[in-house]
Amino acid sequence: FAWMMLTLVCAMLCVSACVASCPLRCECSEAQRTVHCASAAISSDASSLILTANAIHRLDHSAFSGLQNVTHLNLSSNGIMEIGSHAFSSLLALRSLILNNNQLVLIHPEAFSVPGSPLQELSLRSSLYNYSSLTDLITALRWGELTNLLHLDLSSNRLVLLPPGMFAPLPNLQHLHLRNNSLVAIYNSTFSGIEQLLELDLTGNAFRTISDEGLRELERLGRVRLLLGQNPYACTCEAQEFANWLNSSKVRVDDVDGLYCEFPASLRGASLRGISAQGLGCYGNVPEEITDLSLQTSYVFLGLVLGFVGMVFLFVVYLNRKGIKKWITEIYEACRDVLEGYHYRYEIDSDPRLGHVSHWLADIIN
Ligand SMILES: *[C@@H]1O[C@H](CO)[C@@H](O)[C@H](O)[C@H]1NC(C)=O
Ligand SMILES: *[C@@H]1O[C@H](CO)[C@@H](O)[C@H](O)[C@H]1NC(C)=O
Ligand SMILES: *[C@@H]1O[C@H](CO)[C@@H](O)[C@H](O)[C@H]1NC(C)=O
Ligand SMILES: *[C@@H]1O[C@H](CO)[C@@H](O)[C@H](O)[C@H]1NC(C)=O
Ligand SMILES: *[C@@H]1O[C@H](CO)[C@@H](O)[C@H](O)[C@H]1NC(C)=O
Ligand SMILES: *[C@@H]1O[C@H](CO)[C@@H](O)[C@H](O)[C@H]1NC(C)=O
Repeated sequence: FAWMMLTLVCAMLCVSACVASCPLRCECSEAQRTVHCASAAISSDASSLILTANAIHRLDHSAFSGLQNVTHLNLSSNGIMEIGSHAFSSLLALRSLILNNNQLVLIHPEAFSVPGSPLQELSLRSSLYNYSSLTDLITALRWGELTNLLHLDLSSNRLVLLPPGMFAPLPNLQHLHLRNNSLVAIYNSTFSGIEQLLELDLTGNAFRTISDEGLRELERLGRVRLLLGQNPYACTCEAQEFANWLNSSKVRVDDVDGLYCEFPASLRGASLRGISAQGLGCYGNVPEEITDLSLQTSYVFLGLVLGFVGMVFLFVVYLNRKGIKKWITEIYEACRDVLEGYHYRYEIDSDPRLGHVSHWLADIIN
């Protein structure tokens, strides 16, 4: 049985590149697109299988049948684009799966489903083709029920955004590597559901600062060992909270002395931790003073404008003083006429001879 030929199924296999780098003691057939490896190369009781630098574009169901004792599988740099359903499900003892340097375009939701989910390490460094691959991966992590997974490496995948709760299906995760991506922010539930985390590597991303929300999220991770170096931190006033947090948090930032300012130019290379409030240009309540000052300025301006309008008005009045005098006289006379009219009516109303007429009118109106 031990000498039986193993056939690594067609789906896995070669185009021309493979023939050039055919694994030792394997037969590669370009025409049939297969690799046959003698058990001398891959014995069925082997615990590690290293198959790298081949041109395997697709991993299908039962690709690894007959290898149920393999615990480590290294499939780096094979140009793998697609992982089909249950591709690893015959690897009942698989603890470590390395898929670095591939171009995963499609990951089937059940790609990582293995009965009993023995997987402890999954490495996908520089392997996700685009954002769709990330959402595929998240679905596969959920469907795979990888409750034993301890290590996950997603370094060098140009990740910009981590969907909320994406790690929640990995309740026992201890080491999470997100090095060399383009992450810009941590949100409320970015790391929700992973309570056992011991190490979080965020080196070499695009963080300019970490918001209060992000700091609370990191704080929640408790005893984690955090790496935050090689990010382009902006040492402006908004970074003050972050700088204070670095000094006071219970989270252990291992490379705290290696965090440097990138902006503004005057502070480039300064240690983020060492920088004081004065250095960040926000000592005291600068923002409040600024608003006070601008408010005062606008009041002064308003006063000046009103004063000017008033002066113009008075000047116009002065120029037209004769016309205005005439106008006032006319109005006075008009008023007097009207008032006399009232007076006259009042006299008529109070004429006792007409009293009954006005009573009669009042009755009609009511
Ligand atoms: C796997 O290992 C067990 C125990 O070491 C052995 O009995 C079994 O034959 C092996 N399976 C194969 C397919 O080699
Ligand atoms: C996987 O294989 C590559 C290429 O041979 C090697 O550089 C790498 O160290 C291996 N990784 C692991 C975890 O064995
Ligand atoms: C990712 O690449 C695949 C294949 O090229 C394409 O179909 C898909 O739309 C891309 N997704 C995104 C988000 O760009
Ligand atoms: C960082 O990631 C990019 C994109 O995946 C890759 O090209 C580059 O080689 C990586 N750099 C390091 C130092 O790993
Ligand atoms: C963050 O999530 C918690 C509970 O998960 C919630 O109580 C809180 O309001 C959220 N905060 C923000 C800023 O969304
Ligand atoms: C942090 O602590 C260091 C030394 O312990 C001190 O020099 C620095 O000013 C502190 N930074 C802040 C923002 O409190």
